[in-house]
Amino acid sequence: MASIEQLEEKLKKISRELSSHKIELHQTRGYLQCILQNSNDMIFATDVDGILVSFSKGGEKVLGYRWQEVAGNFIKHFAVDPKDFERLIRTSQTQGSAVRLELPFRHKDGHTVYCDVSLITLTNTKGQNVGLVGVCRDITAWKKLQEDLIRVDRLAEIGRIAAGIAHEINNPLAIINEIAGWASTVVEDAKGLSNEDRDELSKAVGHIIEQTKRCRAITHQLLGFSRDSAPEKTEFDLHELLRKTIVFLQPELKYKDIDIVFNFQDKPIQLRSDPKMLEQVFVNLITNAIHAISDKNNGKGRIELRTMCMENYVEVAISDNGPGIKEVDKERIFDLFYTTKPPGIGTGLGLPICQNIMKKLGGKIAFESQIGLGTTFKVAIPLS
Ligand SMILES: Nc1ncnc2c1ncn2[C@@H]1O[C@H](COP(=O)(O)OP(=O)(O)OP(=O)(O)O)[C@@H](O)[C@H]1O
Ligand SMILES: [Mg+2]
Repeated sequence: MASIEQLEEKLKKISRELSSHKIELHQTRGYLQCILQNSNDMIFATDVDGILVSFSKGGEKVLGYRWQEVAGNFIKHFAVDPKDFERLIRTSQTQGSAVRLELPFRHKDGHTVYCDVSLITLTNTKGQNVGLVGVCRDITAWKKLQEDLIRVDRLAEIGRIAAGIAHEINNPLAIINEIAGWASTVVEDAKGLSNEDRDELSKAVGHIIEQTKRCRAITHQLLGFSRDSAPEKTEFDLHELLRKTIVFLQPELKYKDIDIVFNFQDKPIQLRSDPKMLEQVFVNLITNAIHAISDKNNGKGRIELRTMCMENYVEVAISDNGPGIKEVDKERIFDLFYTTKPPGIGTGLGLPICQNIMKKLGGKIAFESQIGLGTTFKVAIPLS
């Protein structure tokens, strides 16, 4: 039989061991708490039925719910497809763990959150299944970036194809234009034609010439868009360029009741940039303003061109009193080939081209629009 001293010694040893385990347990708990509090991932634990028993701070960020709101709920109900999530849980229960990329969850505000999910089955000392721990990393931003890259790649491909077609079409267009010009002279000089027939034929040839011009303008825009030409910078007077642009657009403005208002800064603005590229931007923006006003069809049209020198850039604002841009269109107007105009009027090339040019010139383009009041496009051109 052990003496009292021996028993005391044993008790002391057990007590020492116990305190050392307690310290270890305390440290492990602190460590786990630290992970649960600070990780950006959603870390959760469920009981054997899949009911949530713990939910990290990161989970609140990923799904938008606080712990009090999710406690006692089935974790699978936060997945977009609960059945799919249940299958994954079963895999983890049979294999001890399961990893799955991209499982979509539903955020509290309704949007979808894509998570990279790892599940680990919890077992007791007898090896029985007692629950589940899941680590879910929010990969929504990464997924969006990946989709954007695919879209940009596709756009670049479309751009290359479009440029190829534009290039091929240019020569036949030049020939059609030439022949139409010649036909117009033939019609004028033709003998034996009644005045009525001559008028009709002249009109028809006039249409051919007009439409050919339009096709050439489109191919010109397309080639400018896809060609990776570097800007050719020279010094020029911005106000003079804007006035020249309006003169160039006179045929578009003819017969339209539109006032052009120049609201230029007092002093001339000397710029060093690519005037041809900038002219293309102004032509596109003013043409859009003219079209918008023509759409409105009531009251007098007004287009204001305003210039202002800022600290390191010049702002050109082009405002119209057209119908404004609808909310649904606002997000898409810079997309290639996005147009709200009928076929034959709009191609959806103008604004993406403007954006592309401004990027090349190191500047910016933005807009403000109010339904019923009008639209202002602002172009920022860097001074240096
Ligand atoms: N000033 C404006 N007022 C109202 N809507 C505008 C204005 N500018 C652009 N938009 C809208 O943005 C769309 C896209 O413009 P964008 O210049 O890219 O193409 P488009 O004018 O339709 O065709 P394209 O310029 O190729 O002839 C237009 O169809 C129109 O709906
Ligand atoms: Mg346009």
